[in-house]
Amino acid sequence: MREAKSAILFNPPIHALLTMPLSAENLSEKPWTGRFNAPTNAFVEAFTASVGFDQRLYHHDIAGSVAHATMLAAVGLLTTSECDAIVSGLQEIEAEITRGEFVWSIALEDVHMNIEKRLIAKIGDTGKKLHTGRSRNDQVATDVRLYLRDEIDFIDAALIRLQRTLIQLAMAEAETILPGFTHLQTAQPITFGHQMLAWNEMLQRDRERLRQCRQRVNIMPLGSAALAGTTYPINREITANLLGFAEVGRNSLDGVSDRDFAIEFCAFASLLMMHLSRFSEELILWSSAQFDWVDLGDAFCTGSSIMPQKKNPDVPELVRGKSGRTFGNLTALLTLMKSQPLAYNKDNQEDKEPLFDTVDTVKGCLRVYADMMGQITLKRQAMYAAATRGFATATDLADYLVRLGVPFRDAHEMVGKAVAYGISSGKDLSQMTLEELKRFSPLIAEDIFTVLTLEGSVAARNHRGGTAPEQVRLAAAEALQRLEG
Ligand code: ARG
Repeated sequence: MREAKSAILFNPPIHALLTMPLSAENLSEKPWTGRFNAPTNAFVEAFTASVGFDQRLYHHDIAGSVAHATMLAAVGLLTTSECDAIVSGLQEIEAEITRGEFVWSIALEDVHMNIEKRLIAKIGDTGKKLHTGRSRNDQVATDVRLYLRDEIDFIDAALIRLQRTLIQLAMAEAETILPGFTHLQTAQPITFGHQMLAWNEMLQRDRERLRQCRQRVNIMPLGSAALAGTTYPINREITANLLGFAEVGRNSLDGVSDRDFAIEFCAFASLLMMHLSRFSEELILWSSAQFDWVDLGDAFCTGSSIMPQKKNPDVPELVRGKSGRTFGNLTALLTLMKSQPLAYNKDNQEDKEPLFDTVDTVKGCLRVYADMMGQITLKRQAMYAAATRGFATATDLADYLVRLGVPFRDAHEMVGKAVAYGISSGKDLSQMTLEELKRFSPLIAEDIFTVLTLEGSVAARNHRGGTAPEQVRLAAAEALQRLEG
């Protein structure tokens, strides 16, 4: 993705604008001065500008304009030489912006008018023909869709990278045992690989949602003009082909006004961030001195300025924290849209910052997560030892009795008593003698000890979706195949 290199003029923050004198006026040239007698109030000008944040769309704005001009020439609304002049002027402007030489002006309000004004300054009156059959309303809707489509592709690749890391970890740790929890209480032993594949499933669904969202993003609003379409004989299929849109929007009012595609992206992002936040919560717990199951690596942690012993899991903590702004951005966009009458309203200018922030947040979190998970160190012995506490194989003992003909409810009761005895005597089930175990059911025989081992427990859950190492390896291979598919 192209990023402009250097100094970019940002809209002053509102608190800075509020220091402007109350009577300030601004005499700058606007493209709409024909209808106006008085200049824009300088505070209003700065207050209503979006160039501080929408300049990020410059590459897609220029791509949209080049396609529009090419279409105008194809249908005879521009001559070939006019089109050539516009296209090369726009290409030069793009280079100026990328080099950081372009001077953005708040007086010109947004990225669209800044670029158009510069084009006119560069190539003269021909530049004034670019806006034929188009409005900023369909222009901005097109820009945002083009921008988001590229970001979706980037995020899709970043998600694949994280998923691949998790699947590789799952394969490598298919036999690594740790206690699985419900209610954060020891439940049953599981394998680390199984746990990683659980996260992979969530990310896989997130990526499916992202891909479905892309289909709805990839529809072209250009040609909707201000709201009703245009009187010029435009050919929207040409523009759509040039821009790689799969479809031309079917309704001009809808094309300029709706932002549901951005909301859908923010909903995808919120679900993804909710998943990463849960994942983070586990990593934070696991890296505490009390668990001590993983080492996240010095490169992903920070120290404390006062407590010399500290190595804080800042990365997962920040990712957990950043889920908040993602949910907030989704709410902001839903609220932004909910009362707008058709068609375009200036409210829509407020769609960009939440969307950009969401894109940046997701990209940053995915990158740091893939890096971090690629370098995580597992403390396998500590995990194993943790699984030996808390009677993780109690269900296995009950299942054993059921296999010998005891009804499950009775078996549950017998094992409950064995656990109570274990608590009072300080012994795990596997540490009891056969005589001790027989007190709870005379049916229990020597073969119980394989059942009560952690290895026996996980290996016994040997069906599709189960935690047995064999199943984890199969599931990981399948997941990898799905990923490449
Ligand atoms: N800066 C505007 C936005 O982001 C561009 C469209 C403005 N259209 C208008 N009629 N004022 O939404």
